[in-house]
Amino acid sequence: MATKRNAKRTKRDKVTDHNVTNGNVTNDKLRALEGFRESGADEMLTTNQGTRINDNQNSLKAGARGPSLLEDFILREKITHFDHERIPERVVHARGVAAHGYFRVYEPLSRLTKAKFLQDPGAKTPVFVRFSTVAGSRGSSDLARDVRGFAVKFYTEEGNFDLVGNNMPVFFIQDAVKFPDLIHAVKPEPRHEMPQAASAHDTFWDFISLMPESMHMIMWVMSDRAIPRSLRMMEGFGVHTFRFVDDRGASRFVKFHWKPLLGVHSVLWDEAQKISGKDPDFHRRDLWEAIEGGAYPEWELGLQVIEEADEHAFDFDLLDPTKIVPEELVPVQRVGRLTLDRNPDNFFAETEQVAFHPGHIVPGIDFTDDPLLQGRLFSYTDTQLIRLGGPNFHEIPINRPVAPVHNNQRDGHMRQAINTSRASYEPNTIAGGCPFQAGAQMGGFVSYPERIADAKARRRGEKFFDHFSQATLFWKSQSETEQDHIVQALRFELGKLETTAIRERMVGMLANVDRGLAEQVAAGLGLPAIPNVEPPLNRSIPADGNPKDFEPRRSKSTPALERSAALSMANTVKDTAKTRKVAILAADGVDTAAIDAMKKALAAAGAMAKVVAPRGGTLSGTRGIKVPVDFSLLTVGSVLFDAVFVPGGTESVKALTADARAVLFVNEAYKHCKALAATGEGIAMVPNHTGADRGRAKGGTLEEGIVAGGDGDIARVAAELVKALARHRAWSREAKGQLVPA
Ligand code: HEM
Repeated sequence: MATKRNAKRTKRDKVTDHNVTNGNVTNDKLRALEGFRESGADEMLTTNQGTRINDNQNSLKAGARGPSLLEDFILREKITHFDHERIPERVVHARGVAAHGYFRVYEPLSRLTKAKFLQDPGAKTPVFVRFSTVAGSRGSSDLARDVRGFAVKFYTEEGNFDLVGNNMPVFFIQDAVKFPDLIHAVKPEPRHEMPQAASAHDTFWDFISLMPESMHMIMWVMSDRAIPRSLRMMEGFGVHTFRFVDDRGASRFVKFHWKPLLGVHSVLWDEAQKISGKDPDFHRRDLWEAIEGGAYPEWELGLQVIEEADEHAFDFDLLDPTKIVPEELVPVQRVGRLTLDRNPDNFFAETEQVAFHPGHIVPGIDFTDDPLLQGRLFSYTDTQLIRLGGPNFHEIPINRPVAPVHNNQRDGHMRQAINTSRASYEPNTIAGGCPFQAGAQMGGFVSYPERIADAKARRRGEKFFDHFSQATLFWKSQSETEQDHIVQALRFELGKLETTAIRERMVGMLANVDRGLAEQVAAGLGLPAIPNVEPPLNRSIPADGNPKDFEPRRSKSTPALERSAALSMANTVKDTAKTRKVAILAADGVDTAAIDAMKKALAAAGAMAKVVAPRGGTLSGTRGIKVPVDFSLLTVGSVLFDAVFVPGGTESVKALTADARAVLFVNEAYKHCKALAATGEGIAMVPNHTGADRGRAKGGTLEEGIVAGGDGDIARVAAELVKALARHRAWSREAKGQLVPA
């Protein structure tokens, strides 16, 4: 019912309401969520019992200055609810962000699996995807050096399928029994809870230096993959080998991949640290803004399929989660597309309460005996029981499947369903035998009848002990720049250690991956030579184990592959400037024609331009034209952008060259190898270039990724800038960038 007060609702109120029910209701899951959405729009304030509230400003007292009265049910209810607002954060992957979307398969995959959502190219399967960091708590920075979680919940008509993966294809450990040790080691130290969201401390490297099986994953985590430019620009991996089962019951092994259409790109570590200060929400803001702006993030689903007969055809064991299947050996087939097109309405209700589980599978998909996966199958429901407070969290709207749920599970905290049947057991006659079992032909899940005949033992497969071959393969497959970044990352991480012995043990361990790598790290740490790691290298051995049995060993056969191009980000997609952010650095007197032309060219390429100036408000540009400022130099740094453009305008450039913040802005962009463009007097801001250079520049390139030209060259400058943006970074400038004060 509209009231006088409601009639006064402002335009701003309306905008807020629109956000609350953002996007279209385009799929079954979003339609199902509609019934639970509540915006309060055009409604009066009530208690949880529906009683309308007349005064939300003053508690009930005995007189104006008197004591508060216990009778005040409005105060009590409000405070009590507030007191209970927090739930435990996830024990790992606490910091995350999520979005709704859909998945569509390109062609029926009946040759591989009977899973229904992989059969119909016309069908859109709703998904909810949560990205996360692993080690930090909920309030930590997005830019921590860490693995990123990439968890996808497919709401299929046969039930929920959760692909709970990471942005790296391997893991630190081979067996679930080591997971609590790993996480205890990487989390902040128990004495003083330091450092937050960082692996650069003694307990992590103490553990790692005794675990040669982690060395392949260490290569990935020390690479720039651990500091993505955007969640939209990272790959995803199911990590474990899973099974596909077809409608004849035949099975083959499968590895899941997500390939981002925008390519795989990262920031530099120096940049990551600065972003953490300027905008610790950098990744979640980027995802939110891309979706709000209609630039929907997309990935292709990739599959590596291995026939059962080839299970033992490789130097590595398919059940070992510290190994990849190189794409050169088994190509990735791209079979469908994931699109994220809607932000959640409420972070807590959706992103925080969503409960993923690698054990949520549908007919046509099954597990393997990967001992890490097997442990995960236990862990997720177990932890969610405490995190979400009881056994009914599958009834929370975001977790409900779109497939109907019927069973005899009953009661428990916060039960929502009102089960009307007298029979809550099976078999029964009272309810006509309902709900009844589904035959395989009716979609009933049947486990793949894998043959198992062996003695119980706490052991690992023989090939699990090749801990270094694939770490070496990864190292050798990196470009020179990427290798350098790995060396720098290791120097940083190990340089932070308090215990010299751990540092030395780590360098000794790295020598098993590559001697040159270890030597470079040692030199940076001031270690005179590579220390000898005392055998046994692997200290993770049972009490009565013979250390010799646990020593790492390279596969007997020669590694089939020296390098794998797919492992290097240097070979990723570099043909699009879409969604890239360009800062236009300006002050009063700026050349407005150059700004307009650059904005138009960037918009045509799908990129974004923001005017950054010494102060907020509006600039007075050439010919008296007003230029609205998007950000002042006080609130942003060039680390938040992909490129910088400095247009001409005598007064503007004079003001900028005299402003240390503006100089730092451009210098940092130079140091971080970003695309730079300048026209007219703006060229004076480009670091490292002499006047003569500037004179020569005519809509051309001064240096890789740096374009400059006269006022009349703006069209060519803009076109070159778009190309440089697409290439992401000009790594050839990196050494020179170190000489620029930034
Ligand atoms: C034995 C090994 C592992 C155990 C015991 C384990 C356990 C857990 C636990 C307890 C959570 C918190 C879940 C929650 O509170 O809802 C979690 C989250 C997560 N784990 Fe694992 N994990 C293991 C290995 C892995 C691996 C290998 C991957 C990647 C393939 C992975 C990916 C994730 C992701 C993406 C999340 C966050 C899910 C979300 O966004 O809510 N975990 N894990």
